[in-house]
Amino acid sequence: MEKKWWQTSVVYQIYPRSFQDSNGDGIGDLRGIINRLDYLQELGINVIWLSPVYKSPNDDNGYDISDYEDIMDEFGTMEDMDELIAKAREKDIKLVMDLVVNHTSDEHKWFIEAKRGKDNPYRDYYIWRDPVNGEAPNDLKSTFSGSAWEYDEESGQYYLHLFSKRQPDLNWENKNVREEVWNMMNFWLDKGIGGFRMDVIYLVGKQPDLGITGNGPKLHDYLQEMHEKSFGNYDVLTVGETWGATPEIAKLYSNPERKELSMVFQFEHIGLDQQEGKDKWDLKPLDIQELKNILAKWQTSLGTEGWNSLFWNNHDLPRIVSRWGNDKEYRVESAKMFAILLHFMKGTPYIYQGEEIGMTNRPINDISEINDIESINMYNERIQQGYSKAAIIASINAKGRDNARTPMQWDNTENGGFTTGTPWLHVNPNYTDINVKNNLEDPNSIFHCYQKLIQLRKDHPIVVWGDFELLETMDDVFAYTRKFEGETWAVVANFSDQTRTISLPELGSTKEIIISNYPRESVDFTDVITFKPYETFAVKLN
Ligand code: NOJ
Repeated sequence: MEKKWWQTSVVYQIYPRSFQDSNGDGIGDLRGIINRLDYLQELGINVIWLSPVYKSPNDDNGYDISDYEDIMDEFGTMEDMDELIAKAREKDIKLVMDLVVNHTSDEHKWFIEAKRGKDNPYRDYYIWRDPVNGEAPNDLKSTFSGSAWEYDEESGQYYLHLFSKRQPDLNWENKNVREEVWNMMNFWLDKGIGGFRMDVIYLVGKQPDLGITGNGPKLHDYLQEMHEKSFGNYDVLTVGETWGATPEIAKLYSNPERKELSMVFQFEHIGLDQQEGKDKWDLKPLDIQELKNILAKWQTSLGTEGWNSLFWNNHDLPRIVSRWGNDKEYRVESAKMFAILLHFMKGTPYIYQGEEIGMTNRPINDISEINDIESINMYNERIQQGYSKAAIIASINAKGRDNARTPMQWDNTENGGFTTGTPWLHVNPNYTDINVKNNLEDPNSIFHCYQKLIQLRKDHPIVVWGDFELLETMDDVFAYTRKFEGETWAVVANFSDQTRTISLPELGSTKEIIISNYPRESVDFTDVITFKPYETFAVKLN
């Protein structure tokens, strides 16, 4: 496999609405990001994944786009965008744009035209069906609750929306739609961006009449066409949001010989605290052995035929320290455990804004505190179905997307230094303690742990290319080795808030501690080792 720059990179995801406001309107913006580039450079990342900044009525905070070639007013102007691309490039940071082309906003000019009637040339840009027995064509469900079909009074037909009814699905079978998408991608590529993160790309091959949404029959044909007609001639990173991918499917997307995407962003580990066959809101405790097995499977199954992303967080997921760690007594220790475990694996790591300072979930007491359309729709649906408010709020506090979307906590001034105005979403009150300023001042902070991990990846090819092997240990001890050109590193973590003892005599003893979250000068695996809660280290073996 030819080595690519994005295999040795670390990506930082920015959710622009919540990152940094520069003009006091309570909403993050492009100028705010430009002002924080020095911070990102200090952290050491070399790619930004920028969640959507395009024109949007914000039914789903920018994931409903009304103009792909213009910038949302709240975020700034196209000049700001050009400046951001250029200033980031000066710092060797590439800008990966979110590409949301499974659907548009209902305010996109194509949809406005399409709604004018069955004869309109844009009608077929979307997916329209006649009613069946006076009802929706079938029982496809929207990810944001309820039917995926919305009735259009004027034409007497339904249109498909796999997300909100204000996010009509594009009809990828229409060649003109695909060509519009390639042209738009080329518009951005010509500006010198570093690539695309492709929103729910696994859905574009859907066959709604057959009830097929994800991984449809033409998905990979479309991606090969996309490669050929747009980014194939540029040296960029392309990452697909690929729910439901198995390692075999991941190879279809990311085997370089197939000329599709650079890598997948798959979620198999993310579903492990959800009851089988139910929704993300239906919780069950995480089984750590299962987590180890699944992460290990992805580490060893792609070989040279594919590439994977490494992540715990994004703008749709709760904060990992609150979710599977301990955001109280052991917040710092568990945040570092997650960082160390992930950043020594094979793949391209993604850091979601605030993860590098250990930001936590922000629980709510009442639905009126929520902005996110997914949580609000689910709440209304479950109230109708007779669930108790308390149960629904518990699910939202565990899994709701607003947990990750509270404003970035920069310092301990009002609103955490995010805005001088009224923030669009509540700031987590723990900003007085958990913030960037405190992290930068403390050499033992979570930030400095991430900074070191990023540097280690730059300095040591073993981190990028080493072979992975999961070691057999008791359930909540997570241990693995990486091997490369005669060298072996071991990573061992106590994934629990209890003391644990382990013995791995085959690893010998070593004084070469690469990184740890408790002070440690040596490790003697031949003896029984006592691990403190969440204690984690990486060592070089003799
Ligand atoms: C996935 C995005 O990550 C999410 O935030 C969004 O709501 C849906 N796709 C729809 O675009």
